Amino acid sequence: MARDFIFVFILLVTFTIINAIPFHKRTAFFGPCPNVEDTFSVKMDPDPLISPHLTTITITGKEVSGLIIGPLASLVVTIGATGPVQTPSAFPVCNATDCPIFSGTEYTTSGTFILNATLPKSYQVVLTIGNLNSSSPQMTFLHDQILACALATIET
Ligand SMILES: *[C@@H]1O[C@H](CO)[C@@H](O)[C@H](O)[C@H]1NC(C)=O
Ligand SMILES: *[C@@H]1O[C@H](CO)[C@@H](O)[C@H](O)[C@H]1NC(C)=O
Ligand SMILES: *[C@@H]1O[C@H](CO)[C@@H](O)[C@H](O)[C@H]1NC(C)=O
Repeated sequence: MARDFIFVFILLVTFTIINAIPFHKRTAFFGPCPNVEDTFSVKMDPDPLISPHLTTITITGKEVSGLIIGPLASLVVTIGATGPVQTPSAFPVCNATDCPIFSGTEYTTSGTFILNATLPKSYQVVLTIGNLNSSSPQMTFLHDQILACALATIET
């Protein structure tokens, strides 16, 4: 009786360890972008990314440089290697109750999109906040100004 229990217990522990290994190995690490002072923390779901899959990105941050996130600010999600592999997605950053977001105020926002690109072996996830230039056919920011940014390089 006791021996059966120990056997089942060992089996369970083994399964838990096997399941835990690939999970911790490839979790994305986000850091600040070159030449952009403001950044934020990022949670991706799922992490690591799966394609095709519904993907949610949640960011939490606080501007420190004095830049203000206004009602036109968007979070743009770009996934690419040498060029984008997926059409960038854009989501509003301000919400109706808390806009504009002044420097020193914590904010959080999330966006959900369908990731359907063929992911290369090595790629970057770049998250930028800026005011979208509506007269540009590409997703560019007014005056090319990035208000905050975070990026992760993912190797599979
Ligand atoms: C707006 O953001 C604040 C915090 O940043 C949050 O408490 C509030 O629930 C949000 N409102 C909506 C409608 O998302
Ligand atoms: C991904 O989805 C978009 C929009 O539905 C579509 O235009 C595009 O062709 C799809 N790409 C791939 C690689 O399936
Ligand atoms: C917006 O995009 C248009 C077209 O690309 C460009 O001519 C214009 O200079 C941009 N405006 C700003 C403020 O960046």
